[in-house]
Amino acid sequence: MKLTIAFVLAAATAISAQISEAYTDQHGITYQAITHESSGTIFGIALPENPTDEFIGQITTRLETGWAGVSFGGGMINNLLWVGWPNSAKEVVGTFRLADSYTVPPPFTAPGPEMTPIYTDTAVNDTHWTHTFICKNCHKWLLADGYEQSFDLAGDFAVMGYAGHTEAIPDDPEDPTSDVQQHNFFGQFGMILSDARSAEYETWRAAALAGPAEPEPTSTVTSVTATATSSLTSITSTITSIPSITSTVTSIPSVTSTITSIPSVTPTPTTIPSQIPETVPRWGQCGGIGYKGPKNCASGSRCTTLNSYYHQCL
Ligand code: HEM
Ligand SMILES: *[C@@H]1O[C@H](CO)[C@@H](O)[C@H](O)[C@H]1NC(C)=O
Repeated sequence: MKLTIAFVLAAATAISAQISEAYTDQHGITYQAITHESSGTIFGIALPENPTDEFIGQITTRLETGWAGVSFGGGMINNLLWVGWPNSAKEVVGTFRLADSYTVPPPFTAPGPEMTPIYTDTAVNDTHWTHTFICKNCHKWLLADGYEQSFDLAGDFAVMGYAGHTEAIPDDPEDPTSDVQQHNFFGQFGMILSDARSAEYETWRAAALAGPAEPEPTSTVTSVTATATSSLTSITSTITSIPSITSTVTSIPSVTSTITSIPSVTPTPTTIPSQIPETVPRWGQCGGIGYKGPKNCASGSRCTTLNSYYHQCL
């Protein structure tokens, strides 16, 4: 397989063929990538298992590299180019370009390709600058005359290219439309699209779009359950399970949303059983200072004053 591709590529471009290999970056994304050793440049792409219109791409190179670029069609002319460099804010400035001759490629302005940078927080560090991006519809582009160029994203193989300058920075690094000097390194290579596909693509994509992980909250309520019945006695025992809320209210907004999930504890007792008898049985209290109960003695007995504080049914 690889021999055949190398032969096809060499025959098609008359450049000694380089073939992509697996490369895993610091975020755990595995690409099919090409390495240009002397400039320290690596360019790779990762595809979903069933590619339709997008891939994750990455170009990383030494901090000294003035600019670096990619051709999504292999050659410089009439192919969608990505050209980028670091700016003074330690961001990677990048634009699509399209050249119709071997001169400075102007910005590509036709609709279609979209590039969403991801992991921008790690784009420039002390030794490297890196552009990681989700590229949508980067496999087809319109030329100035309206002719569409494309490669088959779902195919097994594509020819791509890279170029850059190991030192010369763009005329104005703060301006995405800036001119760049002609590359002092460039090449074309075979991208093994079939090996760039991964079942993990959606996981990588979701993690990248989620951004940096949030700090862990100091405490979290996982669940609060409360049960209400219409019986007065069981309500008392259920309410004792809620006190943990007091300690968790201190822990940041996520807790607030958790608290909203407490089922409303609104008992609706239909009848309160009357536990207070209307009549006092024999020997029961039926009066006296401070006594608030019933005063009617059961039949066969009568309320008798024993002292001013205690009247009893006798
Ligand atoms: C800035 C002015 C530029 C000039 C004057 C220029 C000129 C050239 C020339 C003359 C070649 C053929 C070299 C050879 O066969 O010996 C070439 C190749 C190439 N250039 Fe550029 N280039 C420029 C910018 C760029 C940029 C920004 C890219 C971005 C990716 C790029 C990508 C390539 C690639 C991939 C090749 C190899 C494939 C091919 O020959 O078409 N070039 N360039
Ligand atoms: C700087 O970035 C490069 C390319 O992404 C990476 O290989 C390297 O580990 C990074 N260095 C540090 C100190 O994070």
